[in-house]
Amino acid sequence: MIKLENIHKIYQLDKNKSLHALKGIDLEIKKGEIFGVIGLSGAGKSTLIRIINMLEIPTKGKVFVDGLELTALNDSQLRQVRRSMGMIFQQFNLLSSKTVFDNVAFPLELDNSISKEEVKSKVMELLSMVELADKADVYPSQLSGGQKQRVGIARALATSPKILLCDEATSALDPKTTSSILRLLMSLREKLNLTIVIITHQLEVIKECCDRVAVIDGGLISELGTTMEIFADPKKELTKRLVNAVVRKDLLDLLEYTTLDTEYHEGSRVWYEVLFLGDRAEDPVIVDVAKKQNVDISIMAGQINHIQNKPLGILVIAISGNREQFDSVYDAIKERVFNIKLLGYERLGAN
Ligand SMILES: Nc1ncnc2c1ncn2[C@@H]1O[C@H](COP(=O)(O)OP(=O)(O)OP(=O)(O)O)[C@@H](O)[C@H]1O
Ligand SMILES: [Mg+2]
Repeated sequence: MIKLENIHKIYQLDKNKSLHALKGIDLEIKKGEIFGVIGLSGAGKSTLIRIINMLEIPTKGKVFVDGLELTALNDSQLRQVRRSMGMIFQQFNLLSSKTVFDNVAFPLELDNSISKEEVKSKVMELLSMVELADKADVYPSQLSGGQKQRVGIARALATSPKILLCDEATSALDPKTTSSILRLLMSLREKLNLTIVIITHQLEVIKECCDRVAVIDGGLISELGTTMEIFADPKKELTKRLVNAVVRKDLLDLLEYTTLDTEYHEGSRVWYEVLFLGDRAEDPVIVDVAKKQNVDISIMAGQINHIQNKPLGILVIAISGNREQFDSVYDAIKERVFNIKLLGYERLGAN
């Protein structure tokens, strides 16, 4: 649905100074996908999403949407294509002097071919879709943050777009309101067959609703995968830092006051991280293995997360014994779980 090829963006700051914000982004987003983009502040996320609808023109590279190369179009063609992409923002960007109805009607009124009756029925249909039909005549200042964003969503959908771009759309909302907006987006994806791109610094948002996620760092995509892959097994340091603060909070707290060695020393305990997926999160694997292998396994920390409603269990265990026992416990657990990783060795008496 969306394809970016070797996208560069250089901002010319003044005569001698420029800023290379994007340094060669290749990305494909599938039809019907909810795709997340995360990264630190200033990483280039907003630049990237604005390049998808060509509000920002890339310095180099090609943008394709639904098979059409946007970077090859002229301004009037672009204006037409932009109507197939809606966008919502952190600050909602509603017109304060217009009612809810008029805010949503605004993009439709730009199109002379639509009659007043058609505008009215479309706007009321959109407002009931976002459950605000009863607020049609009020002004934005009379709405809560979540309601304002619902108006923003209705307005973004007025031109029946195929793509919805969301730049930090829930960042100004409390967690409960955020969840309700995300549920709305997920249901709209089903109902309208939308492709949704979500830019956010809230990892909770990614965890709840994205199918895949890209991490952007230094103007490039540093890691990309399904949301489950990224949360279960982050590879890059930045990705680890971002996702672990959410799904490995207990483990991080624990490691703050436990020093683990990378080398085994006589008498050390070994620490493993064990990952369980889906239904297997309920299996009594650890107890079984401890019994069969006749070793002591201590559970040091545990956390169950829900990634798009699928459980991901993370357990940290410590085992006393010798190296052969460690290896056979590792093999026995590995057979029955999603993944097991060595965290390190604890020298008893060292902490
Ligand atoms: N119009 C502009 N002119 C000059 N520099 C810009 C412009 N827009 C963005 N930049 C610079 O490009 C870089 C990327 O900015 P961008 O807004 O895309 O980051 P971001 O990842 O969205 O950050 P945040 O999480 O803070 O919103 C930053 O260094 C920013 O200062
Ligand atoms: Mg931004």
